[in-house]
Amino acid sequence: MKTVLVTGAGGYIGSVLVPKLLSKGYKVKAVDRYFFGEDKLDKHENLVLIQEDTRRLKEEVFANVDFVIDLVAISNDPSGELFEEATWQINHVSRVRTANIAKKMGVKRYILPSSCSIYGFQDEQVDETATTNPLTVYAKANEKAEAGVFCLADDSFCVTVMRQSTVFGYAPRMRLDLAINGMTYGAWKTKKLPLMRDGKQYRPMVHVQDTTDVMCLLLEAETSKINGELFNIGSAENNYQLGPLGEMVAKAVAEKIGEDVEVEWYGDPDHRSYSVNFEKVEKTLNWKAKWNAKMGAQDIVDKLESGELQKNTQTITLDWYNELIKWHKIIKNAEMYGGILDI
Ligand SMILES: NC(=O)c1ccc[n+]([C@@H]2O[C@H](COP(=O)([O-])OP(=O)(O)OC[C@H]3O[C@@H](n4cnc5c(N)ncnc54)[C@H](O)[C@@H]3O)[C@@H](O)[C@H]2O)c1
Repeated sequence: MKTVLVTGAGGYIGSVLVPKLLSKGYKVKAVDRYFFGEDKLDKHENLVLIQEDTRRLKEEVFANVDFVIDLVAISNDPSGELFEEATWQINHVSRVRTANIAKKMGVKRYILPSSCSIYGFQDEQVDETATTNPLTVYAKANEKAEAGVFCLADDSFCVTVMRQSTVFGYAPRMRLDLAINGMTYGAWKTKKLPLMRDGKQYRPMVHVQDTTDVMCLLLEAETSKINGELFNIGSAENNYQLGPLGEMVAKAVAEKIGEDVEVEWYGDPDHRSYSVNFEKVEKTLNWKAKWNAKMGAQDIVDKLESGELQKNTQTITLDWYNELIKWHKIIKNAEMYGGILDI
């Protein structure tokens, strides 16, 4: 039985990846601060939760680990701008540190789930050979992390970087701050779909089930095909322009709920626009995305209708970090002798 250490395991992608790995017969060491709670991962005999900050991970955590999937991050642009220093420390420094310790401890494979946002703004469709153009702290930290882990690749340590498209779809730790997920929620709740101006920007998308399938395939792929390699993760079908994507999601939700949904524009024009080529991952891993925006949006509507999914502060990443920081101060001021009323 092989062991996979997953960082950021209690997050949006981790909460789908971890059960998938367990169902495939892996043992999982799930490392996370659990900012979004431990309840997003169900108990399992082959699952060990390790509550730790990846900036302080110790060598012994990597004992008997075969593979590392390093999902940890401050995971979006607005959070990256607000918590700039922490974003550099976690998204860049801690991931390079984790890869170094993993190599030293004899881990065989290290996978870095990075982001296509590294492409920033591009006039033409880009593949993995394109010059990057990271426009935000989040994207710049990802780029540095890629460079910092790639140079560790050798015959004994296989390093692979996934540049994921923007992810969508239902996960136990749900993120409604992601484009399709937020559009779907707005359309379902208010019959108005929020759409970021000006709608012409290109943005590739990938379903959370599809990107986690690729992570599993990378654990099994021949080393010679993936070592030191970079893969864009997504599909031509899900290379959307945000305007038409919004219309499509509005229609998908309207079809489900039997009511009209309007598009409501917001924000200043978004300067990030990138259309991406995904042939390399499709050919190398003989993989194709199974999901598209319509399927993902309608699946989310099902979860909203059944009550399995509800919007709360935790589903908006930046709001939740702000909330934790606010309450940290309040609790520190109120606490005496290790408690509030009970001491
Ligand atoms: N979701 C997307 O659209 C998307 C797209 C491209 C790339 N990615 C990348 O995939 C990865 C996972 O993203 P996600 O959407 O699951 O994000 P997420 O915010 O849901 O998950 C990140 C997890 O990391 C944990 N964490 C944060 N700082 C930590 C620290 N210092 N130590 C330990 N744990 C810590 C959080 O508690 C959280 O559970 C990230 O690296 C992100 O940049 C995500």
